[in-house]
Amino acid sequence: MRKYQGGYYEQENNRCIEQGPGRELAAIVQYMKHHYEGEGMESPAVLEIFKSTAKDEMKHAENLARGSSILAECLQRNLNQ
Ligand SMILES: [Fe+2]
Repeated sequence: MRKYQGGYYEQENNRCIEQGPGRELAAIVQYMKHHYEGEGMESPAVLEIFKSTAKDEMKHAENLARGSSILAECLQRNLNQ
């Protein structure tokens, strides 16, 4: 079994993998909070923009999860070589 040799890029990738999902989830909560707290505002169109942006952040979280899964498979394959 070969040991994985990491450096700067590995550390950066790990940081993104570790912190990315949390940041996306924080963004989702923040935009949905704005959406619900803004009810009664004079500009209801803004509320839909908040909601739409929260949905975009959900897609980012989904893509991150998918990417992390693929990366984990690749790393495992490299470790097993
Ligand atoms: Fe995002």
